[in-house]
Amino acid sequence: MKIGIDKIGFYAPHLFVDMNKLAVSRNVEPEKFTIGIGQEKMSIPPITQDPVTLAANAALEVLDEKDKEAIDFVIFGTESGIDSSKSAGVYVHDLLGLNPYARVIEVKQACYGATAGIQMAKGHIALNPKSKVLVLGSDIARYGLDTPGEATQGAGAVALVISADPNIMALEDQSVYFTSDIMDFWRPVYSDKAFVDGKLSNEQYISFFSKVWEQYKTKSGLELNDFEAICFHLPYTKMGLKALKTVLDEGSEDAKERLVANYKISTGYNRNVGNIYTGSLYLSLLSLIEQKDDLAERSRIGLFSYGSGAVGEFFTGILQPNYREHLYVGKHNNLFSARKEVTVPEYEEIFQQTLPTDGSTVNLDINNDPASICLSGMDDNKRQYVNKVK
Ligand code: HMG
Repeated sequence: MKIGIDKIGFYAPHLFVDMNKLAVSRNVEPEKFTIGIGQEKMSIPPITQDPVTLAANAALEVLDEKDKEAIDFVIFGTESGIDSSKSAGVYVHDLLGLNPYARVIEVKQACYGATAGIQMAKGHIALNPKSKVLVLGSDIARYGLDTPGEATQGAGAVALVISADPNIMALEDQSVYFTSDIMDFWRPVYSDKAFVDGKLSNEQYISFFSKVWEQYKTKSGLELNDFEAICFHLPYTKMGLKALKTVLDEGSEDAKERLVANYKISTGYNRNVGNIYTGSLYLSLLSLIEQKDDLAERSRIGLFSYGSGAVGEFFTGILQPNYREHLYVGKHNNLFSARKEVTVPEYEEIFQQTLPTDGSTVNLDINNDPASICLSGMDDNKRQYVNKVK
């Protein structure tokens, strides 16, 4: 039985800052951000969007009534969750009106959470072939104003429906995963910003890729030439390229050219959104399959997932016949073209807005947020959500 990705939804907030302008205001040459880091625009979440609403908006655009009935497992991958106890997925389950006979959990391992969710979903479908699993990857990446990590912030979510006989991509069985306790990036529970050892994190990303790739080749008998494209977790778009370059010489001239060209296409959305942590790899996959019109059916795509701390995994999928008919290219083009630029001072002001932590009531103005699902306020330490289209 084939199991894999049946649908992919995506949502990013409607505001962005231009990286050229951010560079100027930080006294940095714009090319450092646009070429050295490889980012053009960075998504800015207004206070009316949080990881719950981002995920719910990503799922809303793809789920039909049949999906809502068949989904009996929701796995919410995030490292910027809003509650240490209650799963963010339970709010999404309600906002989307999903079947109540469902299991809902939140999983965390930095940017690896959604990949763990997909692999769990695969097992669940193998035992329950008629059911579907909704895997969400949703995060707001925050390092702080005027910090080295600032240029690698972002916000957004992906929603993946995992099912038997999937319409988009069948996941292959071979997969290699690796864990090692490393302090390259972490966020203590008392902090709303991540701490990072930037240089170490870059080194570990490459080192984990090398470990899982070498083991994958031994286990599967496949080689670089067997891949149409490799998608990477993209904290910033230069990072995946650094990893890809470490293996390119293993391929034929044709393969090298193909993999570099497809890598570029796979970074298009991420370059304009920034790091969305656990959803980043799947945003890259979406960018590739939506923006490369002639990507052949039955192509094998490699996927490298990395979550600091750290866990890495390399796995693969095969694009299914007629997969293009199941994408939402028009919707995503509209999402990008409807976004509104904010100035650097406006971004800084939004960045510093906070919700009350003393139980007081606040009502947020959701009229300026075009998203269907918004955070409308807080009352008695409870977040209030609105689905404008329910
Ligand atoms: P930095 O120290 O400001 O930058 O931090 P840099 O000095 O290393 O420069 C960056 C690149 O720009 C360099 O290129 C420069 O040469 C180049 P590289 O040597 O790396 O190829 N550069 C220029 N290029 C063109 N024109 C110029 C110019 N000037 C310089 N004029 C860093 C960069 C990424 C470390 C920082 O932003 C950071 O700490 N970010 C957060 C950590 C991160 O993203 N790490 C990535 C791997 S870890 C990961 O992926 C997991 C993560 O997603 C978290 C999770 O799992 O939850 C982060």
